[in-house]
Amino acid sequence: MRVLVVVGETEPPERLVVRADRVLHTAGPELEPQLLADVRAHIPEDVAVVGAAGRSEAAAAAAELRAHGFPVTLYTDHPPAEPDSPASPGHSRAHGLRIRALTDTGPAMEVADSLLDLVGNTPLVRLDRVGKRLDCHLLAKCEFLNAGGSVKDRPAVAMVDAAERAGLLLPGGTLVEPTSGNTGVGLAIVAARRRYRCVFVMPDKMSAEKIKLLRAYGAEVVVCPTAVAPSDPESYYSVANRLTEEIPGAFQPNQYRNAQNPESHVRSTGPEIWRQTAGRITHFVAGIGTGGTISGVGQYLKAQNPAIQIVGADPEGSVYSGGDGRPYLVEGIGEDFWPETYDRSVVDRVVAVTDRDSFLTARRVTREEGILIGGSGGTAVWAALEIGKELGPDHVVVLILPDSGRGYLSKVYDDEWMSDYGFLSALGQTVGDILGRKAADLPALVHVHLDEKVRDVIATMREFEVSQVPVVRAEPPLRTSSEVAGSVAERELMSRAFSDPAVLDRPVAEVMSPPLPSVGLGEPVDVVVGALDAATAVLVLDAGHPVGILTRSDLLAFLTGR
Ligand SMILES: Cc1ncc(COP(=O)(O)O)c(C=O)c1O
Repeated sequence: MRVLVVVGETEPPERLVVRADRVLHTAGPELEPQLLADVRAHIPEDVAVVGAAGRSEAAAAAAELRAHGFPVTLYTDHPPAEPDSPASPGHSRAHGLRIRALTDTGPAMEVADSLLDLVGNTPLVRLDRVGKRLDCHLLAKCEFLNAGGSVKDRPAVAMVDAAERAGLLLPGGTLVEPTSGNTGVGLAIVAARRRYRCVFVMPDKMSAEKIKLLRAYGAEVVVCPTAVAPSDPESYYSVANRLTEEIPGAFQPNQYRNAQNPESHVRSTGPEIWRQTAGRITHFVAGIGTGGTISGVGQYLKAQNPAIQIVGADPEGSVYSGGDGRPYLVEGIGEDFWPETYDRSVVDRVVAVTDRDSFLTARRVTREEGILIGGSGGTAVWAALEIGKELGPDHVVVLILPDSGRGYLSKVYDDEWMSDYGFLSALGQTVGDILGRKAADLPALVHVHLDEKVRDVIATMREFEVSQVPVVRAEPPLRTSSEVAGSVAERELMSRAFSDPAVLDRPVAEVMSPPLPSVGLGEPVDVVVGALDAATAVLVLDAGHPVGILTRSDLLAFLTGR
């Protein structure tokens, strides 16, 4: 047990406060009997004493406490003179007192006083692989690099700080919060550091890792059914409210109502993005859960430049994009009610994103950028890619990556789970599996030659019932993709022939389009899904050799198991 005695009107350093089990105050060096009784009642292994800088009251109070038989450490930068041994700040004793330096005066060390001081100031990184078809800048704010691993560390620290200031949370108190996990981690870190008890209430759709993570910090987790109305007594909101009333000294930060939630983003996330983009940001994209991030960042950015577009990324079915709150699988964002922390006035547009697009995009970002992101990050990236299509080189799109994919290894990153939910139709599928499902009576690679007449090309496509063919320079089997000169699509040829029938007798080389983009035979199915977003067909390479064509209808037939 440690007791901290604060002498006079002074703000004691945070690092001393967090190490104390009890903080007591005295106006001056004369100690009231009640204060001495309080100190004694805690049977302290150490009594830390701190006072205003440059004043001697703290030393006198420390000597007084020592005289009453307590083990005392005086924190000061002006140690009292010691008759026999010169006081060396840091490790000296005077009058039976341990003396410790109050401020650190050696050469500066790069060290934070606690993990809580490391929240925020996350980096911005360019997503130039997934954004390679965009003309605009596509930049991601790496909130998964926060001290507790998510964007929620910011409001968690802010809400507890404010509650302590307002006297709503006292030493030894309990935090109760309905949270989908990330806010819980932020609160659990603050609670561990400042010795509060923590009870978290969450819906049963949350991943096992998230629940175990909170328990690892020493928090208690109560799991409630997802498929009930918020007003139902079984809902996680209702259960959290009941527990807040029942537990003495309980405080519910309530991230859905607490103004500190958006405010933390007005104070930190918004200014960071403005600074990091040198004020060049034109579009901000974020998932909407409580709405804290989008509202706070949106308010700050609009105050700097009202032309900045604030875009929400919302799971299809959630209210923000016009849904009725129907359940969806992506975690942490979307709602079935309108929280007070959401400021619709700053949001210019909300893009609805399906679970499939969120999850496959998250996997794509992980594999193409090497950034392991959660499902809601996939939602934001998908929405940013969508709006980015219309933008040019002067546009700077910043999106939020709220947390890491580590919390979803058994869901989004688990092929079995993904196929169970119909996001992938079989285990460990590759491009080769899709190609293998195509009609067995087709030649390996239906193709046409550079000098063939358009009329004959159309006939070949009809015969094999294909809508796209590569135009080749050599007879298959082709050695490399450089032997593919271009490609033609039946629909395009037909419309050209319709407007100018003479085209039918021209060589296809004169009307062909550039070669199709390619994918590897062993690549996972989501690579084709991504590629077919931009192209109508892709060329499949087996160790560099072109072996087949896949179209959107091939992919659809494969995914639906036909
Ligand atoms: C994974 C994840 N993404 C996004 C958000 C949304 O942030 P906000 O509540 O600030 O709208 C949350 C919030 O819980 C989250 O957990």
